[in-house]
Amino acid sequence: MSTTTKAGPLRHALTLNESACVKGDTLLEATDVVIRFNLRGKTLTAVRSASLALKAGETLAVVGESGSGKSVFAKSFLGMLDKNGRVASGSIRYRGAELSSLKGEREWLSVRGSRIAMVFQDPMTALNPLKTVGEQIREAAALHRGLDKEHSRLLALDMLARVGIGEPERRYGQYPHEFSGGMRQRAVIAAAIACGPEILICDEPTTALDVTIQAQILELIKSLQRDLGMAVLFITHDLGVVAKMADRIAVMYAGQVVEEGLSAEIFYDPRHPYTWALLASLPQLGVKGEELFAIKGTPPSLFKEIKGDAFAARNPLALKVDFEHEPPFFSVSPTHRAKTWLLDPRAPAQEAPDTVRRLRARIAEAGKAAGLREPNAPTAVAKADGAKKRKAKKAKEQADE
Ligand SMILES: Nc1ncnc2c1ncn2[C@@H]1O[C@H](COP(=O)(O)OP(=O)(O)OP(=O)(O)O)[C@@H](O)[C@H]1O
Ligand SMILES: [Mg+2]
Repeated sequence: MSTTTKAGPLRHALTLNESACVKGDTLLEATDVVIRFNLRGKTLTAVRSASLALKAGETLAVVGESGSGKSVFAKSFLGMLDKNGRVASGSIRYRGAELSSLKGEREWLSVRGSRIAMVFQDPMTALNPLKTVGEQIREAAALHRGLDKEHSRLLALDMLARVGIGEPERRYGQYPHEFSGGMRQRAVIAAAIACGPEILICDEPTTALDVTIQAQILELIKSLQRDLGMAVLFITHDLGVVAKMADRIAVMYAGQVVEEGLSAEIFYDPRHPYTWALLASLPQLGVKGEELFAIKGTPPSLFKEIKGDAFAARNPLALKVDFEHEPPFFSVSPTHRAKTWLLDPRAPAQEAPDTVRRLRARIAEAGKAAGLREPNAPTAVAKADGAKKRKAKKAKEQADE
C-alpha cells in the first residue's frame, strides 16, 4: 500500500523525504524526547526521555493513567504544547525532517493538519460555535489543500457523507450546537481527514460520548484508517478499546514509555509490573464479588528528579536496584520490550504473584473476547492445514495396509 504524496500550499517550510511509504515503514520517530513546563517559577518535566515510532498504516495505542504524559507527548508532534511548555531535548522526525526545530505557527502549519491531524476528546473545543460545520471543514480543506471555494465545498460535502453524516447538504449549513455529541465528533473527524493527513492522532476521541456512540466512532476511525491508509496514534485510558483498535501498544508511566509491543504481546505476555497493574484494572477482567485491582499509591511528582524506576514505590515486586538505578529497556521479542529490572538476567528468579498468574488467564479470555489471538497460537489456516495433513496421512496409512 502506498500513501499519497500531496503538494500542499504550505509545504515549503520543511524538506520532507517524499518517497512513497509502504506499510511498516517508519513515518514518525520521536527519540528521547524531554518536555518541560514552567509553572509558577518551577519546572515540571512531563515527558522524560520518551521514545516512540509510528509506522505507515498502523494503529499504535498509547495507554497509561492520567498525567502520564500521553497528551503532552502527542501534542509535541504537532507543535501544540501550551505556551509555558517546550521540547527541551530529543528528536521528533517526520519523513526525515526534524520537527522539533520548527518555529512559529506558520512553519508548523506545513505539518499540522495537512500531514498530521489530531482529534481531541471534546469536539466542542475543536469547532467554532459561530461558523457552520460545513464551512469549517471547507476552510480546513482550502487551507491545507489549496482548493478554491467550490472544490473545497464539494470536498467538505463528500467528507460529511464519508463520516456517516446523513443529508450532508442540509448538515453543511448547520452550527455545531445543532449537532449531537457523536455527530460533532464525526464532523471533527471529517475536518481532520479533509486535509488528507498521513497520521491521525486521536486523543481520547470517545471518552465524552455514551457507550453506543463510542462504538460507532471507533468503527468509523477504523474504517477510515483502512480506506485511507492512515497511521493512527490512539490515546486512551480504556484497554478494552485498545484491544479492539490497536496493532501495537505503548504503555506510558510518569512521562516515559515503559513497555511496548504488539497488542497480543502486551495483553498475553505483559512484562512491566505497571502494565500488569494497568491490565488488572480492566473492568472486563474483574471477577464477580472480587474487588477490582487498583493501583495503589500515586505517581511520583514531576517537579522533582526521579531516581531509579519511577514505578518502584508502588510496585510490590520492586527490587533494591529499582530504587537506585533507572532500568534500561530489555527486549522480550524483536517487537516487544520493557523497561524493568525484572527482565535483567541478574534479577532473582521471581514467580509472578498469584494475582498476576490468575490475571494472565483472565487477560487471555478478555483478549480472545476482543478478537486478539494469543501469540504462537495456531491460526485457523494452520489448524486447517494440520487437519488436512492428518487426513492425508491417515488415507496413506489405509492405502498402505
Ligand atoms: N500547560 C501545562 N503546564 C504545566 N503542566 C502541564 C501543562 N500541560 C500538562 N501539564 C502536566 O504534564 C503532565 C502530563 O499531562 P498530560 O496531559 O500529557 O497527561 P495525560 O497522560 O494525557 O493524562 P489524561 O489521561 O488525564 O489526559 C501532567 O502532570 C500535567 O499536569
Ligand atoms: Mg490526556
